[in-house]
Amino acid sequence: MSEITVIGLGAMGTALAEAFLNQGYSVTVWNRSPAKAEALAAKGAIVAVSVEEAVRSSPLIVTCLLVYDTVREALGPVAAALSGRTVVNLTNGTPEQAREMSDWAISHGADYIDGGIMAVPPMIGGPHALILYSGSSQAFDACSGQLGALGTSKYLGEDAGLAPLYDISLLTGMYGMFAGTLQALALTGAAGIPAGAFMPLLASWLQAMQGLLPKWAEQIDSGDHTSDVVSNLGMQADAYVNLIDASRSADVSTELVLPMQSLMKRGVAAGQANADLSSLVALLRLSKQGA
Ligand SMILES: NC(=O)c1ccc[n+]([C@@H]2O[C@H](COP(=O)([O-])OP(=O)(O)OC[C@H]3O[C@@H](n4cnc5c(N)ncnc54)[C@H](OP(=O)(O)O)[C@@H]3O)[C@@H](O)[C@H]2O)c1
Repeated sequence: MSEITVIGLGAMGTALAEAFLNQGYSVTVWNRSPAKAEALAAKGAIVAVSVEEAVRSSPLIVTCLLVYDTVREALGPVAAALSGRTVVNLTNGTPEQAREMSDWAISHGADYIDGGIMAVPPMIGGPHALILYSGSSQAFDACSGQLGALGTSKYLGEDAGLAPLYDISLLTGMYGMFAGTLQALALTGAAGIPAGAFMPLLASWLQAMQGLLPKWAEQIDSGDHTSDVVSNLGMQADAYVNLIDASRSADVSTELVLPMQSLMKRGVAAGQANADLSSLVALLRLSKQGA
C-alpha cells in the first residue's frame, strides 16, 4: 500500500508524482506506456502493472490524463475498486464534464475532487504553481496536506464544475493575450522589426493595461459602465479600424482581430458608445439577449 496513486505519467503527471515523492509520500504510479514510469521508479515510486492495482494501492487517486474520455476509459473498467477512495482529477476539461465525472465517481462510492492546474510542469511543487480545486469539501480537507505538495492550493466550493470553470476562464484570458501578442509580432515583423526589440515594449504595455482590470470588475459587478470613462467604446471602435487597416496593408491576416471589431460594432449599435469597454461583457452572454 502507498499513500497516493498517480494515474497518467505525461509531462504533467510525471511532475505531480515527482512532487509527491519529493515531499516524502509513498507513491504508486501507472501509465499506459510503462516506459514513462521508469525514471519515477528510480526515485522510489511503486509501479503498478494495471489500473486496478494502481487504484487499490492508495486511498488517494490523482488522475492526470489527456482528456476526460481518457479518464473514463482508464477508470471505467475498475469502477468497483474506487469505493471508499478519493479521486482527484487534474485532467483539463469543462465544468459539465467535471460534474458528470463527480456524479459517476460518487455513484461508485468514491469522493470526488476536480482540479485545474494553473502551471506548467517545471513549476509543480513550487509556490507559483496554483492548483484550483472544487468538489467534496470534506474530502478536500482530508487530503489538502498531500495536495499542498503540488503547489499553492485554492479550494473554490462544493460544485465540482467550479475548478474547470475558473481554469478555462483564466486560460481564455491568457489566450486573448497570446492572440494579441501574435498579431502585434506579425505586424512589427512584417516591417522588419525583430521580435526581441519590440517585446520589452509590448510586455510593459500589457502590464500597464492590467491596471484597468480592477475597475472593469467594479463596473461589471455594479452594472454602471459610464462613470469616469476616459476611453469610451465609440472612440475605441473608431481607432480599432486602424488595427485592421494596418494589418491588411502589411499583408498580415486579420483573423485574430476581426471578432473584437465585430463585438465593438455591436456595442456601438446597442447605444453603448459612451460607455467603457467593460460594457461589452453583457453582449457576450447570448442567452441574456434571447439569442
Ligand atoms: N503540460 C502542461 O503544461 C499542462 C498544464 C496544465 C494542465 N495540463 C493538463 O494535464 C493533463 C495531462 O497533460 P500532459 O502535459 O501530461 O499531457 P501528455 O504529456 O500528452 O500526457 C498525456 C497522458 O495521457 C495518457 N493518455 C492519452 N491517451 C490515453 C488513452 N487513450 N489511454 C490511456 N492513457 C492515455 C498518456 O499516456 P501515454 O504516455 O501512454 O501516451 C499520458 O500519460 C491534460 O489534461 C492537460 O491539459 C497540462
